[in-house]
Amino acid sequence: MKTIDQLFQRINQLSTQQQTIQKKRLSNFRFDLTSKEMGAVIWNIAQLVAQQRNTPEYIIDDQNRKALNKLTYYLLGDERFGDGLHKGLFIRGPVGTGKTMLLEIVAEIFKLKRINLRIFNALEIASIMKSNDEAAKKRLLEGYIAIDDIGIEDVEYKVFGSTVRPIFDVISSRYATRRFTFITTNLTPTEIEARYGNRVRDRLREMTSQIVLNGESRRK
Ligand SMILES: Nc1ncnc2c1ncn2[C@@H]1O[C@H](COP(=O)(O)OP(=O)(O)O)[C@@H](O)[C@H]1O
Ligand SMILES: [Mg+2]
Repeated sequence: MKTIDQLFQRINQLSTQQQTIQKKRLSNFRFDLTSKEMGAVIWNIAQLVAQQRNTPEYIIDDQNRKALNKLTYYLLGDERFGDGLHKGLFIRGPVGTGKTMLLEIVAEIFKLKRINLRIFNALEIASIMKSNDEAAKKRLLEGYIAIDDIGIEDVEYKVFGSTVRPIFDVISSRYATRRFTFITTNLTPTEIEARYGNRVRDRLREMTSQIVLNGESRRK
């Protein structure tokens, strides 16, 4: 017979173990760094992505500083991020504010943790979902994916008399299996609801935390 102290100790151990497992599952892309160090990682990767895009320099200013701070807390799993650390990201903002680029930066940073965040443009998703490439469709339901620029595709396509709703279908399936999903869009949540219905809006809200980019287009 164990003493009550031993039992308590065991319960404590178990719950810590469980917490660790849970935390690990939710945070396999979290970095054990200070926020200053994380900021430096983001900055360096951002310059690398800028180079790949023939952009002279990745600029941090009032349009994106808040978003980048939020991303820093997200990657650290820092509570200063607010609610929703265990979700994917919903990056929104006007055209040309750097949403796609930020997504590419996130994907590069995930590579440091050996995580493959596959980026699909919304039009690519539409063309896969319209096709009869079942393997490609299946790949959209697995792993970590990002859908860049939802809203530029048509909501519905008629394919041989049946209706395909690419974004609705992918979001619904990934919601059901709790897959990490990342989104970028020019649409506001209200516009998302008007376009895709309140079910998609609610699911996205459950699946993702918002990061907002502001201001003028950076396209020259
Ligand atoms: N922080 C930044 N500093 C400098 N150039 C940027 C920055 N963010 C984006 N850009 C550039 O601005 C243009 C638009 O960026 P992009 O990510 O395509 O915007 P969005 O996806 O929001 O429309 C691209 O040429 C990109 O390289
Ligand atoms: Mg874009």
